[in-house]
Amino acid sequence: MSAIKPVLVVAGVRAGGTGAATAAAFARKGYSLALISRGSEDLKALEEELKAAGNEATAFPVSSYSASSISAIFQSIHTRYPSPDYTIRAALYNASHSIRKPFLETSLADFRAAQETIVEGSFTFSQEVIRAFKENDVDSVTGKRGMLIFTGSTTSIRGNTTTSAAAPAKWGMRALSQSLAKEFGAWNIHVAHAIIDGVINTPFSRSRFSDRSNWVENEDIRLNAEDIAKAYVYLAEQPRSAWTWELDLRPALEKW
Ligand SMILES: *[C@@H]1O[C@H](CO)[C@@H](O)[C@H](O)[C@H]1NC(C)=O
Ligand SMILES: *[C@@H]1O[C@H](CO)[C@@H](O)[C@H](O)[C@H]1NC(C)=O
Repeated sequence: MSAIKPVLVVAGVRAGGTGAATAAAFARKGYSLALISRGSEDLKALEEELKAAGNEATAFPVSSYSASSISAIFQSIHTRYPSPDYTIRAALYNASHSIRKPFLETSLADFRAAQETIVEGSFTFSQEVIRAFKENDVDSVTGKRGMLIFTGSTTSIRGNTTTSAAAPAKWGMRALSQSLAKEFGAWNIHVAHAIIDGVINTPFSRSRFSDRSNWVENEDIRLNAEDIAKAYVYLAEQPRSAWTWELDLRPALEKW
């Protein structure tokens, strides 16, 4: 008798970031990993790191998060992790498009790029994931067929002076997650949206915010990717009588 192996699919992975930390945390819970990203170097390195730690992990590089590109990648994921040996049990849409510009300097191309990666990407990703979840049995411990998590941010609920491209996309993805949570609760599919409110301590943000003093040393003012990953594992383990749709996470001293 061979046990069916659960698979976590993560879209949006960068070295030392939320997607990577979530992959490692789910691997410790026995999941095999499908890692989707535009940054193929980070992706290969993470695949190697997870394999060296004894996990099954496969990198799926994409050139964009367009619908056709996501659908093609899911074909490859199903080939790499075929049923009935494997089953997709959890998924994280963490891909984002960070853009901050005054409105009159924001082009239609900027607006469309944010829509493509954040809304179109998460829409197609969700269709692929939910189709796979519907084939699963209801897990006897959690009462769910699958867990789909979206990573949002402050701009998912609040626009600001430079967010005319980012906020409409982030609000759109949040609205998608709520629609799916309601439609697929009836299928015992758990959908959650996480608002990450604050700077995450990753190599990417350390280079981006190198002008800000003291934030890397000060544990009170920034998020750790590993701690966000713990919250995502907690969501996946929530039993069906008490499911979170929306979670917000911020450091102790965040002003909000
Ligand atoms: C993953 O989500 C975090 C939090 O919103 C974000 O900072 C990061 O850029 C995302 N990663 C990718 C590769 O888009
Ligand atoms: C809104 O934008 C202003 C100007 O860039 C910035 O100082 C402020 O922190 C932003 N507020 C939030 C909630 O992000």
